[in-house]
Amino acid sequence: MKAVEIKNGVYWVGAIDWAIRDFHGYETPRGTTYNNYLIMDDEITLLDTVKYDFSDSTIKNIRTVADPAKIKHVVINHIENDHVTSIDKIMELTPHATIYITEKGKKGLERFFDLSKWSIRVVKTGDTLTIGKRTLLFIETPMLHWPDSMMTYIKEDKILISQDAFGQHIASAVRFDDEFVTCASMAALEDAVIDYYANILMPFGQLIKTKLAEVQKLGLEIEIIAPDHGIIWRKNPGKVLKMYLDMANGKARQCASIIYDTMWHSTEQMTSPMIQGVKDEGVECCVIKLRATPMSVAIKEFWHSRGCLIGTPTLNNIMYPTIAEFLTHLRGLRPKNRIVGAFGSYGWGGGAVKEAYEEFKRMGLETFEPGLQILYRPSLEDEAKCYEFGRDFARRLKEYHQQFE
Ligand code: FEO
Repeated sequence: MKAVEIKNGVYWVGAIDWAIRDFHGYETPRGTTYNNYLIMDDEITLLDTVKYDFSDSTIKNIRTVADPAKIKHVVINHIENDHVTSIDKIMELTPHATIYITEKGKKGLERFFDLSKWSIRVVKTGDTLTIGKRTLLFIETPMLHWPDSMMTYIKEDKILISQDAFGQHIASAVRFDDEFVTCASMAALEDAVIDYYANILMPFGQLIKTKLAEVQKLGLEIEIIAPDHGIIWRKNPGKVLKMYLDMANGKARQCASIIYDTMWHSTEQMTSPMIQGVKDEGVECCVIKLRATPMSVAIKEFWHSRGCLIGTPTLNNIMYPTIAEFLTHLRGLRPKNRIVGAFGSYGWGGGAVKEAYEEFKRMGLETFEPGLQILYRPSLEDEAKCYEFGRDFARRLKEYHQQFE
């Protein structure tokens, strides 16, 4: 690879991670990129670095445009490992450069690196840095994605370097939305945005709304959104802004996801009439067997749907382990504006469905009750109950969905 110019004198110099499938436990079947950017102005400026393993890649890309020793400023928008762990190698090449970072970023960075050897300037929202013909404006975005996070706006080019926000885990030979849509599709790009939001940013919906309003108040014109992962939005940055606003406002499809696991196929057998019941109410249905599906895909489908039915067999009087793991993961993501119910088979004491509802309540989700438990294997009569359960759930889901329309 080599540097890719995104606008006169502003270059992508990042790295493509084609092979990553486990991003700190989040499955990334499409790989990812670590984007960072180089501005060629009177004072050469690097915005972000990359994951340590790709240090040589970004340095090579930088060299296709400039001698790294000439970099005068290094902006660190976020200190998570995937964006900052090559800082050491970069600074070895340009030891007199100044690092620009938030207060919390500096505090975090000093847990990993010896900062005494570098010149550091702490910045906050509204601070600017003039690098020649261009001025950079810093905007703190705490908790998007970590407390240290910020974005950098290049005023003259109207480019927002948005760090994790608006990113996607996609490894691709192309860098821009218009190119990606040509070689894949807008649906694939949207899917990657939803996947990223659901798995990483779901807890921060309110903050996202506040931050977007703040950016609007600053009156920033945005022509290009350049995130630190995936595709750069140059043709239609408004598209991803609207998607984020919609998701932050709780928008979802009028759809039921059925996320289940099964031991001897009894809970699985319950899903079939249930799906029919949901469909007969005119509600879309998306079905996921958890043990056969990456967790991140299940989370995305949960988020994408207004309602979810969780199917769990009882094992030793509690939920099936994969379901318990899924619900624990989901609780951490603090989902909102979703309606949920539970079902499953049991052999003697039961307990899994009750436990699933306890978990739903802990999350503060709207519940569809009571749940449905079937002894051992569903009989024909039980299958009829499953059908009605699906149908009743779909009715409730439609009513609940109305308030978000
Ligand atoms: Fe891509 Fe929060 O790191």
